[in-house]
Formats: sequence, C-alpha cells, structure tokens
Amino acid sequence: MSSEVVLLGCPAPAKLNLFLHIIGRRDDGYHLLQSVFQLIDRCDTLDFYVRNDRQIKRINSVHGVPENDDLCVRAARLLQQYSNSQLGADIQLHKVLPMGGGVGGGSSDAATTLLALNYLWGCHLQEAELMHLGLQLGADVPFFIGRTNAFVEGIGEQMTSLATPERWFLVIEPGVHVPTPTIFSAKELTRNTKPVKITDFSNAAKVEWKNDLQAVACALHTEIQQAIDWLRQFELNIGDAKMTGSGSCVFCSFADEETAKSIQSKVPNRWKSWTAKALSQHPINSKINL
Ligand code: C5P
Repeated sequence: MSSEVVLLGCPAPAKLNLFLHIIGRRDDGYHLLQSVFQLIDRCDTLDFYVRNDRQIKRINSVHGVPENDDLCVRAARLLQQYSNSQLGADIQLHKVLPMGGGVGGGSSDAATTLLALNYLWGCHLQEAELMHLGLQLGADVPFFIGRTNAFVEGIGEQMTSLATPERWFLVIEPGVHVPTPTIFSAKELTRNTKPVKITDFSNAAKVEWKNDLQAVACALHTEIQQAIDWLRQFELNIGDAKMTGSGSCVFCSFADEETAKSIQSKVPNRWKSWTAKALSQHPINSKINL
C-alpha cells in the first residue's frame, strides 16, 4: 500500500580512503583507524515510496543479497523500530558501485536510506542519533550520515570535517571481491602505525600516507597488486596509486579531468575503470533538510 509520498533519485555516493592507517585494536576485535574519507561523484541511486502499512520492501533484488541482509532494508527497519514510525517503504536501488570494492557502496546505501526515511517519515532524528543507528549497520555508515569529507578515527565513528582540494580520480576495479573481515583478521596485518595529526595531512608533512590493509589484500589477490603497479607507471598523478578501504578497488588522483580520462583510456580491457570528481559535500543535501 504505497502512499503518494515519494522521494526519487536519492544519491548514495562512493568514498575513497585517501589513506588508511591502523593504529591499534579494541578488545572486541574492531580496529582503531585513522583515515581521510573523500566523497566522490559516482553514486548508487535510491527511490523511496512511503507505505501506510509499516511494511518495508525492496522493489528489486541486489545481486543475490537476501532481503533480510540487504543493508537498505536493515537500515529502514532499524529506523522504524527506533522511531516507532507507523509508516513503511518500498525501496528501489539502482546499483552502480561495486560490492566488496572498498568504495563504501553498501554503507552509503544504508546511510541514504536512514537520511531519506528520517525525512519522509517525519522522524526528526538528529544527525548524531542517525550516526548511532548507522554504526550498528557498519563502521563506515556514520561517515556517510555526516555528509562531508572527514578525518575519521576510532572504528569509524569519530569524524572531523575536512576541506579537500578539487581533484579527479581514476579508479580501477580489479574484478575480485574482498571480504572485509578476512582482511582485518589476517595475522600479518600491520596494526601499530604511528598516529598522525590531521594537520600533518593538510601540510603534506613527510608521513607515508598508505593503506595498511593493502599488503594483505594484495597477497590474497595478485590482481590488486597488478592494478596498482599498472597505475604507478604514470608519473603525473598526485600521490601514489593505492587501494581504497579493504579493497579491491585501487585509485590515483589528478589535478585535472583530462589527464585522468586520458590515462583511463589506456587501462587494460580486463579491468573495469571509471573517473570521478572529488565532492565537497554529500549530494543528498539538496534533497533533504536535516
Ligand atoms: O564495516 P563493517 O562494520 O561492516 O566491518 C566489517 C568487518 O570488518 C567487521 O566485522 C570487523 O571484522 C572488521 N572491521 C574492523 N575494524 C574496523 C572496521 C571493520 O576490524 N574499524
């Protein structure tokens, strides 16, 4: 029973981790991170149709993910339970972002669901409450609720907004799916990188801005290392080619779109690739009021 209330074309953008350091581990096994999360203009898109009967349904299925595991459905149920809303929703997801790619697709879909339904259902939850709910769905979800580029610490829940320069990125999907828990639980993982201050990042101080998850992911999947090596042959990029999140996508950044596109045109056919622009804020801001 759909009502007339709809919100179409809600963007769920990808993120890139400009670096990702692991500085420790909590007693519950979760890792303490330091990372800069950058929003980019490549997005999944979601349509929401409010229902009057409290049911939450997805209109399309996402590549073999059962409805009860679907992060959008779980996000909607969590919000409904927490806010005691009497409304429901039909949710349609147009999937563009790779799954298991390290670009935060599933987390971003969940965050967009929380933001959009909070607005449509009139729950009026504050951002901090939505972040708290989001953290139950995944460590990256609070970042997407925050809707700005950020220096992220803790397990992903501590954020400091950060202005990042205009940039273009070339992203390669090496075609392998990397399960995040496998990478984080690897014995060989470096877990003691020296903590940095975010001012070091802004001042481009002499810190090696690396991804501590990369070595483990590359050891499991040589395709990831091959894509990094391929990007490294070009000396025009700003910063080194590296993996994002727990992989498998790898990227490098450029000061202009033309260079990003010209190098993309040379990417070997066996890899899917795309270019994207750095966003200064979440594109859902123009659709909802928080
Ligand atoms: O992002 P999400 O919370 O879904 O993380 C998936 C898995 O990655 C967790 O179950 C945990 O094993 C690992 N992880 C971690 N430390 C983090 C984030 C994730 O150990 N900060």
